[in-house]
Amino acid sequence: MPVNFFVRPGCWLAVGALSLVGCGSPATDEQPPSAQPAGWADQIRLPLAVDLNPDPHIFEINLEARESELELIPGKRTKAWTYDGGIPGPLIRARVGDRLIVHFKNSLPEASTIHWHGLRIANDMDGVPDSSQPAVPPGGSFDYDFVLPDAGTYWYHPHFDSAAQVGDGLYGPLIVDDPAEPKGLGDEAVIVLSDIGVDQDGALEPADGGGNFGTLFGREGNLHLVNGRVAPTLHVRSGARQRWRLINASKARYEQLVLPGQRFTRIGSDGGMLESPEAIDRILLTPAQRADILLEPTDAGLAASERSLSLTWVPYDRGFGTAYNRPNESVMTLAFVAGATAKAPPLPVLHRELPRIDLSGATPVAISLTLNPEADGELAMGINGVPSWQAAHLMTSLGERQLWTVKNTFEWDHPFHMHGFFFQVIDVNGVAPAVREWRDTVNVPVDATVRFAIEFDARPGMWMFHCHILDHADAGMMGMVHLH
Ligand code: C2O
Ligand code: CU
Ligand code: CU
Repeated sequence: MPVNFFVRPGCWLAVGALSLVGCGSPATDEQPPSAQPAGWADQIRLPLAVDLNPDPHIFEINLEARESELELIPGKRTKAWTYDGGIPGPLIRARVGDRLIVHFKNSLPEASTIHWHGLRIANDMDGVPDSSQPAVPPGGSFDYDFVLPDAGTYWYHPHFDSAAQVGDGLYGPLIVDDPAEPKGLGDEAVIVLSDIGVDQDGALEPADGGGNFGTLFGREGNLHLVNGRVAPTLHVRSGARQRWRLINASKARYEQLVLPGQRFTRIGSDGGMLESPEAIDRILLTPAQRADILLEPTDAGLAASERSLSLTWVPYDRGFGTAYNRPNESVMTLAFVAGATAKAPPLPVLHRELPRIDLSGATPVAISLTLNPEADGELAMGINGVPSWQAAHLMTSLGERQLWTVKNTFEWDHPFHMHGFFFQVIDVNGVAPAVREWRDTVNVPVDATVRFAIEFDARPGMWMFHCHILDHADAGMMGMVHLH
């Protein structure tokens, strides 16, 4: 049976097991038949969260965080930290406006929470320990329950001891479908990019490896994973359009990807569709960013003996020493099936009304990302010269519009993330982005200044912002907006 990524998980399972309940999805989600060979994406197949609720507008699941032995290196066992036993955790897929209920059980030896990265939900569902909820102790549980407000590509991860827990394998994809979206954009694959640090016996590297230098650089794992697998292969038909929903779940690695001789069309990012599509020849995702990409890979010009392309990771210079002496790496192979060339149907016109945030009367907010004097040999990073544990909250009124100026004062880039709200980037060092889009994470390069516009709504609470190099966040580069 061909993989069909479009149908809701409950329904998809119902195809194989006819009696399964939870098929809440009517036939309107149907997509044109796949143009790819049967099983084309089996090597990157994701486990699917199973909807336990017969109500078509409620998606209800159990999700357990637990240690699990995985074979990441052939023949070696890695005791990873997982959701439901796998890396990544199960794909949660529902429609905009649906209610999502997640019965979270923590079976880890340490406290944890789940943060729903990018979702504009109530503050008490945001998963930040001690501000939105108490941390869930080992053996404890917590019910998350909210309505999915926006279509797009999201992800979930813990917000407790984040660098260690995410780095050891706790993250999963969340797709919110828009039933009104044009059909036929391409054969879809949800692709979670990440890395994990393991030694040659498969044991997890310590989360504090390399001491202060490790923290400054941000720790990248030596195993580069695509949906939890090393260097998988997609079997594709030349000329047939694909749609990749990419998520960078690494705690520090930037994903800069090229497909030699091919171009991409970027149609969406953190907060759903772009105002209009953008042609690009490389994909760049900081930790936590997402991209919705179309491609029509072709084998034209390839020798008959090597009808494949390598999706190639190219080191991105995110500051001092981070790209030095590092080779390119093939992260996934696209193998063309012999003798078949498909012509992709014309792309539907994609345009989204995405009004510019009105900045008249907006409150200016200026912050700088700083490296603080070391206290007792411990490195501290921070905002405006103080680490998060000493920082005053930014008092903000419900509905307030703000213009943020974020200045990076030191030698490494920082992917700046705001919880619970999207923003619009105005400029990076004075240069405006090519297309308008909703972001929740933006790169602030070395010595650069990024300005963005944000409009807070009526969801009061403590909303966190931080660098999404999680080693930096844990070292103090975090702050809080107190919305009231
Ligand atoms: Cu992915 Cu605090 O966020
Ligand atoms: Cu977040
Ligand atoms: Cu940082």
